[in-house]
Amino acid sequence: MTAPSLVVAPSLLAADFARLADEARVVEQDADWLHVDVMDNHFVPNLTIGLPVVQSLRKASDLPLDVHLMIEDPDRWARGYAEAGAYNVTFHAEACADPAALARDLRAAGSRAGLAIDRDTPVEPYLELLPHFDTLLIMTIKAGFGGQRFLPEMLAKVRTARRHIDAGHLHLRVEVDGGIAEETIAEAAQAGADAFVAGTAVYGADDPAAAVRALRRLAERAVAG
Ligand code: DX5
Ligand code: ZN
Repeated sequence: MTAPSLVVAPSLLAADFARLADEARVVEQDADWLHVDVMDNHFVPNLTIGLPVVQSLRKASDLPLDVHLMIEDPDRWARGYAEAGAYNVTFHAEACADPAALARDLRAAGSRAGLAIDRDTPVEPYLELLPHFDTLLIMTIKAGFGGQRFLPEMLAKVRTARRHIDAGHLHLRVEVDGGIAEETIAEAAQAGADAFVAGTAVYGADDPAAAVRALRRLAERAVAG
């Protein structure tokens, strides 16, 4: 199977946590990945779900799980998510002393590795590490809560990363997360993002599957021609 040119990843953070398996199924035909936000009430003030839920989701859905760890001490916890069958495990640069080493561990455990950059963190210090990663997640809000307003000034980081990736012929996706919706996805795609996380815009819609399709169309149109 060839990789899709653009990835749309609904975030379960905006779904009904009592019905996660059903919420995953609703977007299964249209989404590329399912984005799972793990928050520990330390790295971010919010608290969500952890490894047992990801293990269950893995059995309940065929969608690749894109796990976004907003936790302290990912060195201790991230590998478990890879071993649980996550497709991609992303941890925050701000929480990790040696991101390249943890990326190696994650790949050895069978998942892809992602590096996340929060709102107040510049991307430049991490550009040299990108060959160790499969995804670079650039927050377009401050990590911690869904439903926040998209911050267009974060797209400067997307452009910087995209230039570096293309110039170095690197193979990783630039993922944007936070406030991605029909009004914002085109400018994120034009800036060079090729993976789009959307929580409220998908699960807040009357028809989440149609919302995923609409987002994909807008992103594709933005980069076509
Ligand atoms: C927030 C999470 C996001 C969140 C985005 O820290 O990382 O994945 O679900 O939600 P929306 O799309 O509502 O901004
Ligand atoms: Zn996220």
